[in-house]
Amino acid sequence: MENLGHIREEARHCTACPLYKHATQTVFGEGPAKAKIVLVGEQPGDSEDLAGKPFVGPAGQILDRALQDAGIAREKTYVTNAVKHFKFEPRGKRRIHSKPNAAEIKICHQWIARELAAIAPDLVIALGATAAQSLMGKAMPVGRNRGHEVTWRDGRRGLITVHPSYLLRIPDAESKAREYKAFVRDLKQAAKLAAT
Ligand code: URA
Repeated sequence: MENLGHIREEARHCTACPLYKHATQTVFGEGPAKAKIVLVGEQPGDSEDLAGKPFVGPAGQILDRALQDAGIAREKTYVTNAVKHFKFEPRGKRRIHSKPNAAEIKICHQWIARELAAIAPDLVIALGATAAQSLMGKAMPVGRNRGHEVTWRDGRRGLITVHPSYLLRIPDAESKAREYKAFVRDLKQAAKLAAT
């Protein structure tokens, strides 16, 4: 069994795709090596790129709240991303998130595959389409597949839900509250699955 620390160290030097050239650092997963639940996001954002930790920015704050509302202790989960370097477009002084493409997702899959092999969790939750694509090896529409058990390409049990930054982008308060509830409902279902 590979040691998670060794994988993390190796990932620090990853040059397998060009994204490392402009990112500050590799943002590897974080959490207990024996976590029962692994949460997979898309890629680090601006805050995560600077901090070197996943989900510490605005999306991470919503995720923390939703996990708490779903009765899941974040510190007991392992949180990581499908793509380990921040991809962005410079715009003035700002760095605007840019979606990773299929090749980048595929190349970076080696890291998530090794993290999951080392952790051997009971359930792997995909937060959004990029994570689902990485774990399934093909595009998986979130709307049609969310909230119930799926089997990932590697045979592991999983669940798909929305990405927390989707909630940040909803302009009207009513829809935002409704979608937040649906997100929490999916996470509660995940907790139930992980316990069975
Ligand atoms: N969005 C992600 O998908 N991952 C992070 O770590 C932060 C924002």
